[in-house]
Amino acid sequence: MNQARGEWSSRFGFILAAAGSAIGLGNIWGFPIMTAKNGGAAFVLVYLLLTFIVCFPVVMTEIAIGRRTAKNPVGAFKELAPNSQWFLVGGLGITGGFMILSFYVVIAGWVFGYFIEVLAGGLDRLAMDGEFTNFVANPWKNLIYTGLFMLATIGIVVGGIKDGIERWARLLMPALLFMLLALIIYVMTLENAGRGLAFYLIPNFSKITIPVINSALSQAFFSLSLGMGALITYGSYVSRKDDIISSGFIVTVFDSSIAFLAGLLIIPAIFTLAPDTTSETIQAGPGLIFVFLPKVFMNLSNDVGYFFASFLAAFFFLLISFAALTSTISLLEVPTSYVVDERKIVRKKAAITVGIVIFIISIGSILANGASEFFTNFITYPSGVQKDFLSFIADVFFEMLLPLGGFLLTAFAAFRWKTHNLSKEISVGREGYSGSLLDKWISFMIYICPFIIFFIFMNTVLEKFFNIVLF
Ligand code: TRP
Repeated sequence: MNQARGEWSSRFGFILAAAGSAIGLGNIWGFPIMTAKNGGAAFVLVYLLLTFIVCFPVVMTEIAIGRRTAKNPVGAFKELAPNSQWFLVGGLGITGGFMILSFYVVIAGWVFGYFIEVLAGGLDRLAMDGEFTNFVANPWKNLIYTGLFMLATIGIVVGGIKDGIERWARLLMPALLFMLLALIIYVMTLENAGRGLAFYLIPNFSKITIPVINSALSQAFFSLSLGMGALITYGSYVSRKDDIISSGFIVTVFDSSIAFLAGLLIIPAIFTLAPDTTSETIQAGPGLIFVFLPKVFMNLSNDVGYFFASFLAAFFFLLISFAALTSTISLLEVPTSYVVDERKIVRKKAAITVGIVIFIISIGSILANGASEFFTNFITYPSGVQKDFLSFIADVFFEMLLPLGGFLLTAFAAFRWKTHNLSKEISVGREGYSGSLLDKWISFMIYICPFIIFFIFMNTVLEKFFNIVLF
């Protein structure tokens, strides 16, 4: 084991860090709204099935490749398939880390900015119509908030595996869980919350169609941080004594649970202000978090006073900031580990340099919401849809590159590395795994996954860029 690379202090440390990577904006504004729009409990069921049947084997493949090689994604593919072009799949992942972080940190900056401005007494202003549009169009403000968020991310990654990433995950993850539960309990006591709960959970199987299954799988993939080697990287710091199958399983359960819990907070909260919400009128994405929820908190101030309502709102935006921070850490760690391993540059210098380059790229996304005409009307797709720079980068690297990476990764495991090697690596630290039913299942799924994931990839590309819907 290469001591200079670092290692998690324990199995629990890895679990928290990997869960931190998985739990992010995707859980908080992706899953709840998707569930609400697409059949409630029926959707939750489909999502859980896909998570455990399709995604869990991919989680295990990434962790196993990482631990087997103790390398960053490029180094890992080079070691397992020397003298081949497979290392390019790792390169795709490193590029993904750069580009995804460059816009993810801008959104994280909005969340953090809302936290600061609510603390400063600005909830009433933030709840006004059009304020979010003003907020994102302000280049200086966003440069500062994004910059601060990036600075925190860099600072933690510079600290290393045990004393940086793991230590902060140990602090932030329990805090996040506590804050989430506290807010859920509070929201449940409010008027009309029960209607939201019913809306969130009553199953409607007629809404489960092929496109819904398709987007559920993309969502699960993204939520588990799959497809760009984040788990290869985190897995590379796992001890050879540890049982990775139970770690991987706990991370997967943790991720789905937080997504589900986020829905128990957000959907009932929406109903306290708008009890007649339907799956057609419910807002998704940034509009929900930054436009609608401040209004919900402002509405509460009629009953509990402005001060307490602001306190709750600040608490909420801090919670999302924590979720986003453990994710940005993992996004920065992937390219950083590459620079440390392959370019032999010390971690501190590597993390700072990579962080600064990403911050420079993120300026494009900061200016993409009204500040600059060029970045705001950046590109028009063949389908005729016009996109700003931030959305364009999200489409290319989130929606497209992640499934492509997942496809190549599972194809690699099935047809090049071979599943008996995968199974051998998983059984290190886990007696009785080889030949077990679980082993057979994971090995089998790794052959099926490339086809399923390729199907999703094709559908996404055709729909996003060409507006062609096959199914
Ligand atoms: N999973 C995180 C979320 O739900 C985002 C994320 C962090 C991610 N690291 C990743 C996604 C690596 C894909 C790959 O918000």
